[in-house]
Amino acid sequence: MSESRQVRKVGMLTGGGDAPGLNGVIRAVTTRCEEYGYEVVGVKRGWKGLLSPESDSFVPLDTDGVRNILEEGGTILGSSRTNPYKNEGDAEKVVENMKAQGIDALVAIGGDDTLGVARRLNDDFGVQVVGCPKTIDNDLSATDTTFGYDTAVSIATDAIDKLRTTAKSHERIVVVEVMGRHAGWITWGAGLASAANFTLIPEVDPDLDRMQKVFKDRAARGEKWGLVAVSEGVTLGEEFMTQAPERDEFGHVQLGGIGETLAGELENRTGIETRHVVLGHLQRGGTPTANDRILSTRYGLRAAEAVKADEWGQMVALRGNDVVTVSLSEATDETKTVPEDLYKVLDTFFG
Ligand code: F6P
Repeated sequence: MSESRQVRKVGMLTGGGDAPGLNGVIRAVTTRCEEYGYEVVGVKRGWKGLLSPESDSFVPLDTDGVRNILEEGGTILGSSRTNPYKNEGDAEKVVENMKAQGIDALVAIGGDDTLGVARRLNDDFGVQVVGCPKTIDNDLSATDTTFGYDTAVSIATDAIDKLRTTAKSHERIVVVEVMGRHAGWITWGAGLASAANFTLIPEVDPDLDRMQKVFKDRAARGEKWGLVAVSEGVTLGEEFMTQAPERDEFGHVQLGGIGETLAGELENRTGIETRHVVLGHLQRGGTPTANDRILSTRYGLRAAEAVKADEWGQMVALRGNDVVTVSLSEATDETKTVPEDLYKVLDTFFG
């Protein structure tokens, strides 16, 4: 590891899909850094703010300015899916602009895309960076839980609870499409918490024959309604259902459409009128739950402590009830998916 350079000014950015709790991290990092005597500057719009600075890209942050943002959803710094490693020479521009702004250390708050860039900047240029895991998907392998996840599960659970009353009133099956990209964590949590009749996640192929039989048996005993939670990454054939052919700068497609397709399939197979609902960005919006406010605050405090301790190239992580640091390379290696034993917990209650 190269010699650490003295830190006077700490930059902070939030990248990728927003998540309730981001402002909790910003508030905690700023407060602790000020205690250490560091100047703190917020970088707006994720890596875009350092790659292509605009007049408002750098905002001074201080304890008073962030005192009241904990309960606010989203991120006061804004976000983007800009990838400085997409085009030749852009990563160098990020490093140059950091130097031009006098930023000695950076706290990067994001998912595997944002943190993957942070890891490479540290590896390639010795950028003094500390990562903080963020995603409602909870699919980062190096931490037990990411903030944003609890809020997304709560929103999806509440939605399915609400849909149950209308499904029963109209004797319909309602299919609820849930976010999570290629990991089924949000759907797993909301399906279990809302007692959905079936919960389908990308990790397990759907058994349409079983679903057909169950809903027909329910109808035969007078329950001609039901609720199905399905993750956006579930496929009925080979291809993922996508909203459009375009991919973002990290190569991700915009998933979506399985809910409608599955609803049509179930109606054809069961003869029961079926509707679908896509929860979409509702799962990313609004105020964070108490758990996400607490977790994001703990992440932010530990990230600031990692800056003070020169723990560059590390990411804060939850292990049990302890917030520790792990290497960014460990954090961005593989997607954390729902293991079979947890899926079996769900399967117990299908029907
Ligand atoms: O990664 C978080 C997430 O909400 C995924 O669950 C979802 O597939 C994706 O972001 C949506 O991305 P965007 O907000 O760019 O449409």
